[in-house]
Amino acid sequence: MSIRNLIDITDLTVEEIDQLIATAEDIIENPAKYQDACAHKQLATLFFEPSTRTRLSFESAMLALGGSVLGFSEAQSSSTAKGETVGDTIHTVSCYADIIAMRHPKEGAPYAAAQFSEVPIINAGDGGHNHPTQTLTDLLTIHREKGRLDNFTIGFCGDLKFGRTVHSLVNALSRQSGIKFVFISPDELKMPDYIKENVLDKNGLPYEETTSLEEAMPALDILYMTRVQKERFFNEADYVRLKDTYVLDPEKLVPAKSDLCILHPLPRVNEITVSVDRDPRACYWKQVKNGKFIRMALIMKLLGIRV
Ligand code: CP
Repeated sequence: MSIRNLIDITDLTVEEIDQLIATAEDIIENPAKYQDACAHKQLATLFFEPSTRTRLSFESAMLALGGSVLGFSEAQSSSTAKGETVGDTIHTVSCYADIIAMRHPKEGAPYAAAQFSEVPIINAGDGGHNHPTQTLTDLLTIHREKGRLDNFTIGFCGDLKFGRTVHSLVNALSRQSGIKFVFISPDELKMPDYIKENVLDKNGLPYEETTSLEEAMPALDILYMTRVQKERFFNEADYVRLKDTYVLDPEKLVPAKSDLCILHPLPRVNEITVSVDRDPRACYWKQVKNGKFIRMALIMKLLGIRV
């Protein structure tokens, strides 16, 4: 059997994503059915960049499947600190683990890693590029909240330049029908041209760009807020100037639809006030929970395990 990796969300077909969502929903309903699915299997989490949700949800997912986990949460605690290459690290870990989830600050690093691996590699976020398992989390959440993955207007707000979760989700939604994209950002943090040209324009998909969250709000079915990605800026002054461009608070939600679904991949810094958490339209804590179940489904799929 050839190795299946998940480097980019388009490594999965639309049908496969539908199947993963169906499996995750079955896991939510019937967790006991899956408790030994990955017995004697090991997941390695190799995080060369900080994480709370992605790493811990992967680990929680594997433990809930009856498997075990190993790995590191910072590059400095691995032999990377002694100068070992990513290729040699992956070659080594693939001798010990059955599947690897990897986060790295360099765009393309998981793709490079896959060339050295004898086991499936999952991209758990590469620089400002892609974050396909967050996209699976987002899609599961949208499916559970809206009952569908098509025919809605979604606004992406904040750092659309460096926001890897945004890039992957736009790519995934570009394969659905009837999606209207609204990109809300300061001029300096607009959606990259390579996504507009290669994903949207190439497929004849319309989108709007605006700097005003207030103007965009009434038309939205889904609002995807994002953090300004401090770690990707070259210049601290630019980050400080842009970081609080958008702060979602209860007042800004007054003109929004009553069934708006508010998403955020988290962590948040200041872009959604805590008072919004009490709004029934706030779905980002449900999103966090869903991350574990969709990763359980993904681990099983890439290991070729069916229950
Ligand atoms: N959404 C997300 O990737 O969060 P972490 O950085 O905490 O993993």
